[in-house]
Amino acid sequence: MSERLNSLAIRDIEFHVHGQTDLARHREVGPLVIDRGEGVYVYDDQGRQYLEGLAGLWSAGLGFSEPRLAAAAKRQLDRLPFYHTFSHKGHAPVAELAERLVEMAPVPMSKAIFQCSGSEAADTAAKLVWYYHNAIGKPRKKKLIARAQAYHGVTVMAASLTGIPRMHADFDLPLGPVLRAECPHHYKFALPGESEEAFSSRLAASLEELILREDPEMVGAFFAEPIQGAGGVILPPAGYFEKVQAVLRKYDILMVADEVICGFYRTGNVWGSQTYGIAPDILTCAKALSASYLPISALLIGDKIYQALLDESRKLGMFAHGYTYSGHPVPAAVALEALKIYEERDILGHVRRIAPRLQDGLRRFTQHPLVGEVRGVGLIAGLELMQDGPARTPFPPAAKVGPKLAAFAEARGLIIRAMADVIAVCPPLIISDAQIGELLAKLSAALDDTYDWARAEGHL
Ligand SMILES: Cc1ncc(COP(=O)(O)O)c(C=O)c1O
Repeated sequence: MSERLNSLAIRDIEFHVHGQTDLARHREVGPLVIDRGEGVYVYDDQGRQYLEGLAGLWSAGLGFSEPRLAAAAKRQLDRLPFYHTFSHKGHAPVAELAERLVEMAPVPMSKAIFQCSGSEAADTAAKLVWYYHNAIGKPRKKKLIARAQAYHGVTVMAASLTGIPRMHADFDLPLGPVLRAECPHHYKFALPGESEEAFSSRLAASLEELILREDPEMVGAFFAEPIQGAGGVILPPAGYFEKVQAVLRKYDILMVADEVICGFYRTGNVWGSQTYGIAPDILTCAKALSASYLPISALLIGDKIYQALLDESRKLGMFAHGYTYSGHPVPAAVALEALKIYEERDILGHVRRIAPRLQDGLRRFTQHPLVGEVRGVGLIAGLELMQDGPARTPFPPAAKVGPKLAAFAEARGLIIRAMADVIAVCPPLIISDAQIGELLAKLSAALDDTYDWARAEGHL
């Protein structure tokens, strides 16, 4: 029996269904039980240390042992552990957090609306697009465009917007009026010799064709992550959002920026929207909002959307949306504290100083025979593994080279994420120069382990 299958692991297998997990394989391998955290490291129940190269789920910006966040939660739990925000009730943490987020927004925004997860935020954004267009007398303008390889979450609408086929399979999804735009993955989809600018122009033209085909009067919004994270760390090619937004403005289509991964300094600016010149009408954020210590997400909406909600309340009597835990005071207090810490410790300056160390270090792996492309910005990056990099020949999916590399990295004390053959690196924002060196060294060793294995298995 593997030492991993101790009694806790066996109970976990027996009683717990893990999301985004191969459940059949899980019965054989069991969970890696993470027991505690310290800075950028987590420790399993055998005491083994791992550098968390994905910040949990692209999210624990302040690492795994920030005492101020624990203290903020305790203070709020002692004072007011729960209260809701329905029917004119309120409390200080949510009011202050809303004000702070509106101040921080990448473009002038009017209000914040709180939910508990990134999926709920995407779901609410879809509802708001429909509600807004009803309110302004354009009830036909309801189709939502999202991109291939997008990830917006797993609630019914968020999963429908998501453009990753395995998120739909046998869930009878997608549902709803979702249209699919092309994925802006230059390395994979550009024509031979096509520049990033030319690729962006082609994608914007094809978006316009899609809108015209579907009738511009029926297209309500375009959803996009500034960087597509779970779809494979896909950075927008040069000029992409400028060209896409010109098309959206032409046909009066709302821009929804999903900042769930990119928000809060990840790309070297507060928002990915600033890094890529996006002017969202609706912005969704979560994850690093509370440094992931407690679940909370937010939407920021511009004034024209808010005025429409106000008009609907005058007509219908209320804004009939909201969760029991929307704006829960404890996560809101923790989020406020996280935002204070980001600012007091100049996390933005730190990310900008340290990012070149990570990006340059990772770019050196393009010399490695397994690596086709390395891409990234700030403290987020992806390595695309290829059987033959120069010829851009991928490995057969059944070879599972990416997951194998992640397993080798884990054995060497580094947690990273394999999305098929793209390896994602997205460490806590507080990572130090020396820890980036450690991450690079462990990843380099894991690449070599994978190379030896791939040769032995006949994949090379
Ligand atoms: C861009 C993006 N949007 C939405 C979500 C969904 O967030 P959650 O898992 O909190 O529902 C994620 C999760 O990774 C994400 O990366």
